[in-house]
Amino acid sequence: MQTVNLDPELELAVRVPARKGGTPNATTLQAHRTTTLSPRFYTTNFDELDKLSVEPVRAEWDALIAEFAADTNLRHFKRNDDWSFDPQSLPPALRKEFLDFLVSSLTAEFSGCVLYAEAKKRGTNKDLCALFKYMARDEARHAGFINDCLQDFQVDVDLGFLVKAKKYTFFSPKFILYATYLSEKIGYARYIAIYRHLEQHPEKRFHPIFKWFKEWCNDEFRHGEALALMMRANPGLLSGLNRAWIRFFQVAVFATMYVRDHDRPEMHKAMGLEPEAYGMKVFGITSEICKQIFPVLVDIENPKFLELLRSLRALATDLEVARKQGGVWGRIKAVASQARIVGVMARLLLLPTRSNSLPEQTRLSPAW
Ligand SMILES: [Fe+2]
Ligand SMILES: [Fe+2]
Repeated sequence: MQTVNLDPELELAVRVPARKGGTPNATTLQAHRTTTLSPRFYTTNFDELDKLSVEPVRAEWDALIAEFAADTNLRHFKRNDDWSFDPQSLPPALRKEFLDFLVSSLTAEFSGCVLYAEAKKRGTNKDLCALFKYMARDEARHAGFINDCLQDFQVDVDLGFLVKAKKYTFFSPKFILYATYLSEKIGYARYIAIYRHLEQHPEKRFHPIFKWFKEWCNDEFRHGEALALMMRANPGLLSGLNRAWIRFFQVAVFATMYVRDHDRPEMHKAMGLEPEAYGMKVFGITSEICKQIFPVLVDIENPKFLELLRSLRALATDLEVARKQGGVWGRIKAVASQARIVGVMARLLLLPTRSNSLPEQTRLSPAW
């Protein structure tokens, strides 16, 4: 168990409930559970992370930090007259999936907040401390906004409990960079794809939170820019054996999203989105953005890629069924499914990739 304490300012932004201690409620326990697909909390070697210099990208870095300081979204994460919602309006199956989506998003936002706040607190590197402070600020606002939405449903997640009790996964600093860069950028791609789709089909916007997605995902885009610059300034992170790790993280992030989104059929139906087409669109945007920094890209246009994702999803369903069945026979089936999942992941990792030469300037604009 790690003893992380958030600054009072951040606690306020994420609206950590005053009620701390006692028995956590069911939603908190849902967020607390760590499974292969659920968002995790991360920790790292903060001293090693602190040593990364951004000097080689000084001009781009300073311009980006000035954007963070300008804080254009200062007033965005508040409800206004545009917010109208009746929690009773959602049919039960949609309500269940949507709440699951909110809790999972809240956990992910809060996980970023805790990691960045800790990196700031433990760091001495002025450039990185400035960045982590701004990123923790943004993630705290995002988490707080979702917390407000949950309260409409009379559901609350005890974030104070989560910080102390959730299991932390250790990643070395370079893995933190690959994983967070990808999660920020895919987060942007997911939100902007939903936002643009609902712009075209406003009748499918079953909850007002989607109206907040454009400015929201611009924050995530900016976070990804900072992580890209950190990698660009330290090119050893982008060469040699690290190319294999970069490929691994892309495959892992895409596969996780594909499988998890298929578990929310009602929510996608309500928005008028088909999970596979939506997934491929998001992977396309993410891959395009990744050209700014990754020397190797997963070839999502290879028909085998989608074929293997479909197999993975079928196996994930088998695994779930076997686990629910329980008993000796259920356990045997679960082990068999797990072995086949490892096999499919290996095949995904062995698919030919695309080489990419990095552009002169790393920075991109959120133009999607
Ligand atoms: Fe966020
Ligand atoms: Fe973010």
